[in-house]
Amino acid sequence: MANQLLADKRGLITGALDEHSIAWKVAEEAHRQGAKFVLTNAPVALRMGEINKLAEKCGTIVIAADATSVEDLEKLVAQSVEHLGGKLDFVLHSVGMSPNVRKGKTYTDVNYEWMNKTFDISAFSLHKLLQTCMKQDAINDWGSVVALTYIAAQRAFPGYGDMADAKATLESIVRSFGYYYGNAKKVRVNSVSQSPTVTTAGSGIKGFDSLYKYAEDISPLGNASADDCANYCISLFSDLTKYVTMQNLFHDGGFSNMGVSEMAMQIFAKKEGE
Ligand SMILES: NC(=O)c1ccc[n+]([C@@H]2O[C@H](COP(=O)([O-])OP(=O)(O)OC[C@H]3O[C@@H](n4cnc5c(N)ncnc54)[C@H](O)[C@@H]3O)[C@@H](O)[C@H]2O)c1
Repeated sequence: MANQLLADKRGLITGALDEHSIAWKVAEEAHRQGAKFVLTNAPVALRMGEINKLAEKCGTIVIAADATSVEDLEKLVAQSVEHLGGKLDFVLHSVGMSPNVRKGKTYTDVNYEWMNKTFDISAFSLHKLLQTCMKQDAINDWGSVVALTYIAAQRAFPGYGDMADAKATLESIVRSFGYYYGNAKKVRVNSVSQSPTVTTAGSGIKGFDSLYKYAEDISPLGNASADDCANYCISLFSDLTKYVTMQNLFHDGGFSNMGVSEMAMQIFAKKEGE
C-alpha cells in the first residue's frame, strides 16, 4: 500500500546487508512511500554485493562507510546531502555487531578489546553519526532519526552477551542526543525495540531459535516481522509522528509488558506433573 508518506523526503539508511535485514525492508518501504535516500554499509559488507541489487531497485547509490570511523561518516553525510540535492529528513541507524557474541565468548568471559568494538559498532556509531550530522547541519528541522534496539537493554537475556550493555548505551544516546538535537533543530531521535527477527545479526545470538519461539508464544500478537518493523520506522520518519522524540518504542507484539502467559504456565504445570 503506497500512501506516499515520505514524498519529498530525503534519507540515509545504514545496515542493509541482505534481503533479510531490517534496513533492507525499511529501504524497500521508504522507496514505495516516495522517499529518496542513500544506502550505506561497511566496506566489507559491500563486497558481498547484495546491497547493489537493493540500490538498483530503489534507484539510488551506495556509499561505503565504517560506522565507527568519523572520517568515513563525515564523507558519507556530505556526499549523501550532495547526491540527494538537499539536507536529510530521516536517518536509520541499523548497525550492530559483537565480536564476543560472534565468537562464542560468554558474558562472564569477554575479551575486553572485543567488548570495546561491540560498543563502538553498536552504540557509539549512533553518537558519531549524529554528531557528524549536527556539525554539518545535515538534517532538516523536524527530521527524524531511528535506531534499532532490543529489550535486552532493560532485562536479562542470557546469550545476548555484551550486546545488552551496548543497547542500553545506544538507548541512552537516543535520549541525550534527542534532547540536544531537539533543542537545536527540532530533530527527533527515537529507538525501536524490535522482536527477535531472523536476520544475520539476529541468528548470531546463542539460543536464538528458542528465544524466537519463546517470544512468539508469550507475545499476545506474536513476534513482529521485519516488514512490520519497516512500516513502524516509516511512520516515525513521517510527519504523522512529529512530536515523538527521546523514546524507546517497543515493536514486539506486546512481549515487553508480559509477565507469564497461560501457555507458559501450562508447560510448567506439565513439568510439575512429570
Ligand atoms: N534481528 C533481531 O532479532 C533484532 C532484534 C532487535 C534489534 N535488532 C537490531 O536491528 C539492527 C539491524 O540488524 P538486523 O537484524 O537487520 O541484522 P543485519 O545483520 O542484517 O544488520 C546488521 C548490519 O550492521 C552492519 N554493520 C556491522 N558492523 C558495521 C560497521 N562497522 N559499520 C557499518 N555497518 C556495520 C552489518 O553490515 C549489517 O548490515 C541491529 O542494530 C540489531 O541489533 C535486531
